[in-house]
Amino acid sequence: MEKTELLYSGKAKDMYLTDVPGVLWAAYKDQATALNGKQKVQIEGKGTLNRQISGLLFEAVEAAGIPTHFIKNWDDQTMIVRQCTMVPLEVVVRNYASGSFERKFHTAPLLPLAPAVHEFYYKSDALDDPFINDEQITALGFADASTLAATHQLADRVNAVLTALFASVGIKLVDFKLEFGRLPNGRLVLADELSPDNMRLIDEQSGRSLDKDIFRHHEGPLTPAYQVVLDRLKGAAHV
Ligand code: C5P
Repeated sequence: MEKTELLYSGKAKDMYLTDVPGVLWAAYKDQATALNGKQKVQIEGKGTLNRQISGLLFEAVEAAGIPTHFIKNWDDQTMIVRQCTMVPLEVVVRNYASGSFERKFHTAPLLPLAPAVHEFYYKSDALDDPFINDEQITALGFADASTLAATHQLADRVNAVLTALFASVGIKLVDFKLEFGRLPNGRLVLADELSPDNMRLIDEQSGRSLDKDIFRHHEGPLTPAYQVVLDRLKGAAHV
C-alpha cells in the first residue's frame, strides 16, 4: 500500500489517502500541542509511542466487540484505518474530576464521578471547540438522536474496556476524549486515536501523571511517561 494525497494535517496526526479506496494512512506526529494548538513543540519519539499505544488500545477495544476504524499497524509512526465521515463532536468521558471539570465545579482533585460524566464539544477551531449539549447537537443537525444515543452507549463500552485494562496494569483512567465516524455502510465506529495525548492516566502507586498533563503543566519530559504506559500495556494479560 502507498500513501497518496495528504487529506488533512491535524495537531497530532497527518491523514493521507492511499492507493486503496476507503483506506487511510494515519501518520502520528512528533508534535505536542496545548491550548488548542496555541502552544506547540516537537517531541522526538512521541509519534512512535502514540502509534504503538493507540494500536494496542484499538486492538483491545475491537477484541471487546466495539467497532472501530482501526485496520492494522503499518510502520513505526503509521496505522492504516478505514475512512469515515466524522461526527463533528469530541466526546469526553470522566471517571474522576480533573482538568476543566475540576476548575469549573471547584471539586476535590480526582473526586470519583458515578455514573461517569459524558460531555460533548463541537469540533470547531474557529469557535475553540465549545461545549454543546444533546439538544443543541440535534437542533443544529450535528448528529441525529439515534447517533447521539449510540455515541453515549459506545462511550460507556469503551470506558468499561479501557478502565479495566488500565486497572490491570496499575493505572487509573481519569478521563479521555473520543471521536466517532461513520463508515460508507452507515456503521458508527470509534475513530481518531487512543493515546495519552487524549486521556488522563495516573500511576496508582506513585500518583504520578502518565499523560499529556506533564507537557501542559511543564512537569518535565513526556516520552518517559508514555514509555511506561506502553511497557505496562505490552505486559497486560489480555492485550
Ligand atoms: O481539559 P479537559 O479536562 O476538559 O479534558 C478532558 C479530557 O479530554 C482529557 O483527557 C484531555 O486530554 C482530553 N481532551 C482532548 N482533546 C481536547 C480536549 C480534551 O483529548 N481538545
